[in-house]
Amino acid sequence: MQKKIIIDTDPAMGTKGGDPEDCFAIMMALNSPELEVVGITTVQGNVPVERGYSNAAYLLNEFNREIPLKAGPSHTFDEERNKERIWLSQREDMEQLTPLLKPEKAKDDAASFIYEKCKQNSGEIELVTIGPLTNIAIALSNYPDLKDHIPKITMMAGAAKTPGNITPSAEFNVWADPEAADVVFTSGIPIVMIPLDVCHQTRMSREELISIGDNPHPFCQFIKEAVDPWINIRTDLISDEGLHLYDSLAMASVISPNLLTYKSAYVRTETAGLLTAGETVCEFNESIMGKILKQKFNAEVALELDVVRFNQLFQERVTGYLRSLKS
Ligand code: RIB
Ligand code: CA
Repeated sequence: MQKKIIIDTDPAMGTKGGDPEDCFAIMMALNSPELEVVGITTVQGNVPVERGYSNAAYLLNEFNREIPLKAGPSHTFDEERNKERIWLSQREDMEQLTPLLKPEKAKDDAASFIYEKCKQNSGEIELVTIGPLTNIAIALSNYPDLKDHIPKITMMAGAAKTPGNITPSAEFNVWADPEAADVVFTSGIPIVMIPLDVCHQTRMSREELISIGDNPHPFCQFIKEAVDPWINIRTDLISDEGLHLYDSLAMASVISPNLLTYKSAYVRTETAGLLTAGETVCEFNESIMGKILKQKFNAEVALELDVVRFNQLFQERVTGYLRSLKS
């Protein structure tokens, strides 16, 4: 039986300079017979939300798929936090490759779409979040019974035992909207967390990225242009070459959960820290306080990955597919 999912994402392939990787994860989902993508909701993160919405629309059109597409707001969950993160909704200087569309608030609202769909199909639709958790937090706070209709959230989020990637302590998706993340972690919905600890074991090399452009098919040429900044990444500033497949790994874990090994934890998000906002504090009941208090676990945290099997899946569903496209 196919697994029904809603993907919540900040897709930037189509906005130059934005992380193109969400779109590889969406491609993987669209090419996976194990999944039925019931909807895609876009969130502010890698790019402002209308740009993510436009990039997702372009991708769905290329795949010839009529899947409902919705958008969240141009701000974070918390008003005060929004003052610090306001630049996430701006960045007008980024070059846009896909036609810019404007979602209509009343018709295209992500939070109400998530609620309606999950309620109509109670217990059947899992959420796969590969961006900041703003839309999910808004949906949970606007519709308190939503938590009873969602069986699982798989999220690319946080760092368990490893440093952050946007600050020394925080991973980007959680850092972008820490208050939203904490609403989700404390919602009572079973969570599978795919943190940097395992994401950093994945990599699409510069050579693989470049080779997509060897196919003259227009979609591959579009990808070539979109990933150009990542191919020409400044190795004098950033030591990582190529692309970590964060979001594709989260998607792969939904398709094939046993690619990863998980450990139960009680996870909360730091929202007050001066230097640590967005840190995901994972208590495995291994600290002294954890051993005494025995916190009730709220998440399964992935800590080990079968890299070879993940690469095979990515190759089969994404790069192999792109190579096979005929003009
Ligand atoms: O920290 C990794 C996350 O932020 C991923 O979802 C990726 O899209 C990045 O920008
Ligand atoms: Ca993302």
